[in-house]
Amino acid sequence: MQSAVSSPAPGWLAVPDDADDLVPAVWPASAERGPDGELIIGGVSADALVRTYGTPLQVIDEGEVRRRASGIRAAFDTAAAANGTTARVYYAGKALLNTTIVRWVMEEGLNLDVCTGGELEVALAGGADAARLGFHGNNKSVAELERAVEVGVGTIVIDSEIEIERLAAIVARTGASQRVMLRVNSGVHAETHDFLATAHEDQKFGTALDSAPGLVARIREIEGLDFVGLHCHIGSQIFGVAGFRESAARVLDLHQELLAGGDIPELNLGGGFGIAYTRVDTPEPIENLAEGIVSAVAEGCAARGISIPALSFEPGRAIVGNAGITLYEVGTIKDVALENGSRRYVSVDGGMSDNARPALYGAEFSARLAARLGDADPVLVRVVGRHCESGDIVVDHEYLPGDVAPGDLLAVAATGAYCAPLSSNYNHVPRPPIVAVNGGESRVIVRGESLSDLLARDAGIER
Ligand code: LLP
Repeated sequence: MQSAVSSPAPGWLAVPDDADDLVPAVWPASAERGPDGELIIGGVSADALVRTYGTPLQVIDEGEVRRRASGIRAAFDTAAAANGTTARVYYAGKALLNTTIVRWVMEEGLNLDVCTGGELEVALAGGADAARLGFHGNNKSVAELERAVEVGVGTIVIDSEIEIERLAAIVARTGASQRVMLRVNSGVHAETHDFLATAHEDQKFGTALDSAPGLVARIREIEGLDFVGLHCHIGSQIFGVAGFRESAARVLDLHQELLAGGDIPELNLGGGFGIAYTRVDTPEPIENLAEGIVSAVAEGCAARGISIPALSFEPGRAIVGNAGITLYEVGTIKDVALENGSRRYVSVDGGMSDNARPALYGAEFSARLAARLGDADPVLVRVVGRHCESGDIVVDHEYLPGDVAPGDLLAVAATGAYCAPLSSNYNHVPRPPIVAVNGGESRVIVRGESLSDLLARDAGIER
C-alpha cells in the first residue's frame, strides 16, 4: 500500500517555482537581488556585510523599522480621527531593544513600552523622554518602581494588588504624582487565526475583570496615584480583528462600570499584530486592523452611551520583525533518508543561541541563499544550528536550490523581533553583532561578543 504522505514537507509548504525568490511580505521592502544574484538589503549586499562583520550576523534595515513605525502610527491616527478619538502607539521594546532603536522610534513619534528595570535603563540611555514611556511587568520590584517614579515614567501599568500598595508607599514617601493604568485579563486569548474566550484566563498577567472594580477603587483613594484607564493585551502574532473586538467589548463593560467613580480618559488595548514569516502567512494590512479595532471600540462606546476614550496600542513584532534578517555561513550538509523521502540537513554557524523561537514555540521561518542564485532544482531542507541539541532548528521546513553547499551564505528572514532579546550563550557561543543598514551604508549598533566576553564572568580565572 502506498503511503498517503509522499513527502516529509508539511502540507502548507509547496515546492516553489523559484527557490531564490524573495516573498515581499516576508522580506524588508528594500530586499532585492543584485547583478550576481546576491541579496541586497538597505542598499548593502549580504556578502559585503559578511566580509566586514563576519557570520552569524543580525542585520536590521533602519528604513524598514522607520517605515513600519510611522505607518502604524499613521494608521491608528487615521482610524482614531475617523472615530472621534486620538491614538497613541507605544513600541513594545521587548521585541528588540537597544539605544539606536529607541532613537528611531522616538524620532518617528512613537512612545515606548518597557517591562523591566533593565529595559527602562536602555530607554533612558537612548535619550527617551520618560513621559513617553509605559512600564509593564507582573513582578516589578520596589526598586524598579521607585526608579520609574523618580525618572517620571509617563504611565505605570499596575498588574496586581500588591503593586498598588508598593506604589502607594512610594508616592507617599516622595510626594510624587504618578499616572497609572490597571492591567485586566479580559479572558480572551488570541493566537494567530483563532481566539479563545473564557470567563477567567489561566495565566499570570493582570487581574480578573471581576476583581478590577475593588482595585480601581483602592487606586482612586491614593493621593499621588492618578488612575487613567484600563489596559489589556490578548496575545502575540495575532491575525485578524475578532479577538481584539471581543476583548474590547468585555473591557468596555468594565470601563463603563468604573465611570461611576470618576472620569477615565484612556484605554490601552496592547499589541500582538501578526507578521509574515513564510509565504503562507497573510496578515491583515495594518490600516484594516486599526480601523477594525478602533471602530469596534467607537461602536461599543456609542451603544453604551459613553464617550470614547483616547486609545493606546503596543506593537512590537509588527515594527521590527520583518526589518531584521540573520546571515549565516553554511557548514556541513547531510541527507537523511526517511520513509517518505529524504530531508537535507543544512548546518549553519549559529542556531538556537541567536534564534530560540523555533525551539521555544515551533516557530517557522524562511531562508534563501544570500550571495548567489541557485543552479539546481529545489530540495527540501531543514536549517539547523551548531548547538549540541537536536531541537536546535533555525528553519524547520524550507526549499532551497539543490546545489546549496558548504561555504554558501544563507539569509533567514523576519528575525528582527524576539531573536536578539531571547539570545543566549548556550554552548559558549558568542552572540552576533547587530548591524543597521540604510541607504547603502552599514554600522554596528550592538557589538558582537568575543571569547573574552564569554570568560569575563568566570570567577575561577586568575586575572
Ligand atoms: N504589550 C504587552 C503587554 C506585551 O506583553 C507584549 C508582548 C506586547 C505588547 C508586544 O506584542 P507584539 O506586538 O510584539 O506581539 N517571545 C514571543 C512573544 C512574546 C510576547 C510577549 N508580550 C515570540 O517570540 O513569539
